[in-house]
Amino acid sequence: MTTEIPDARLGTTEAELEAQFHATIEAKDRIEPRDWMPEPYRKTLIRQVAQHAHSEIIGMQPEGNWISRAPSLRRKAILLAKVQDEAGHGLYLYSATETLGASRNELTEKLIAGKQKYSSIFNYPTLSFADVGTIGWLVDGAAIVNQVPLCRTSFGPYGRAMIRICKEESFHQRQGYELLMTMMRGTDEQREMVQESVDRFWWPALMMFGPPDDDSPNTAQSMEWGIKTHTNDELRQKFVDMSVPQAEALGVTFPDENLRWNEERGHYDFTQPDWSEFWSVVKGNGPCNVQRLAHRKSAWDDGAWVREAAMAFAEKSAEAAASDAADTAGARAEEVAR
Ligand SMILES: [Fe+2]
Ligand SMILES: [Fe+2]
Repeated sequence: MTTEIPDARLGTTEAELEAQFHATIEAKDRIEPRDWMPEPYRKTLIRQVAQHAHSEIIGMQPEGNWISRAPSLRRKAILLAKVQDEAGHGLYLYSATETLGASRNELTEKLIAGKQKYSSIFNYPTLSFADVGTIGWLVDGAAIVNQVPLCRTSFGPYGRAMIRICKEESFHQRQGYELLMTMMRGTDEQREMVQESVDRFWWPALMMFGPPDDDSPNTAQSMEWGIKTHTNDELRQKFVDMSVPQAEALGVTFPDENLRWNEERGHYDFTQPDWSEFWSVVKGNGPCNVQRLAHRKSAWDDGAWVREAAMAFAEKSAEAAASDAADTAGARAEEVAR
C-alpha cells in the first residue's frame, strides 16, 4: 500500500514561488538548496562561488612558491599551514556549488579550459619572501573586506562557508603583518625589500574589489538578490581607510601621491588603479596567467589516478556492504524458517 505524501508545492504557481523567494530575500532570511530559486539567481551564484573557489585554489601557487625557501622552520610551518587553509577554503566553496547542482569536476574543467575566472591578483609573481608578508597583509586583508559582508549573503551554504573562511583569513592577515613587522625591525635591506613588495602589490590589491561601480553591470542585480550587500567602490574605500594607518604603524608608504585624508568626506582620497591593466589581466595577459593555469592543469592531470582509485574503492566498499547486508538478510530468513 502506498501512502500519498502531500507536496507543499502542488498547486503553487511559479508566480507564487517567485513571490516567496523575494519575501525570503526581503526578510534577510536564507535561500536554501531545496528552495525554489530563479534560474538566473542559481547561475549567478554558481559563477560567483566557483570563481571564488578557483581563486582559493589558484591562490595557493604564488605563496606555495616560497614554502621550500622559507628562511626558518617557523616561517615554513606558518606558510605551509596558511597555504593548506586556502585548499580547505576551495573545498568548502566547491561543496557550496555542489548544492546548486554544479560538481567540482565540471567546474575545475571549466577553469582549466579558461571558461571560468579567478581573482586577477594571483596572476602577479612573488619575487621576494617579503611578498609572503605583503600578500597576507594586503591580499588576505582585501579578501576579508570583500568576504565579511558575504557571511550574510542570501544563499545559506555560501554564507555559512564564509563564516569559517573569514576566521582563517583573519589569521592569514595577522601572520602577514607580523612577518613584515619583523622584517621592518631588521636590516636596511630587509626594510627596502618590504617597501618594494608593498609598491608592487598596492595597485593589484585595489583591483581586487572589481571595476568601479559605473563599470560593474552585475552589481545592481546581485544586490537586489542579496548576494552582494556593498558595492565595489564602497568596499575599496573601506580597504584604503583601514590600510593607511596600518602602513603608518609598519613604517611603509603606498605608491600614491594623492593619498590623503579628506576631512569633509571622512575618508582617504586615493588614485584609482590602472583599469586598462586590470582588464588586460582579466583577459589572460597578466604576467603569470599562462603559468598558473598550466600548473593547475598538470596538478589536475597528475591527480587523475587518485580520483579513479578513490572512486573504485568507494564502489567496491558499497558492493561489499550490499553483499554483507544480503548475507545477513539470508541468514535471518533461514533462522525464521527453522
Ligand atoms: Fe582563503
Ligand atoms: Fe587567505
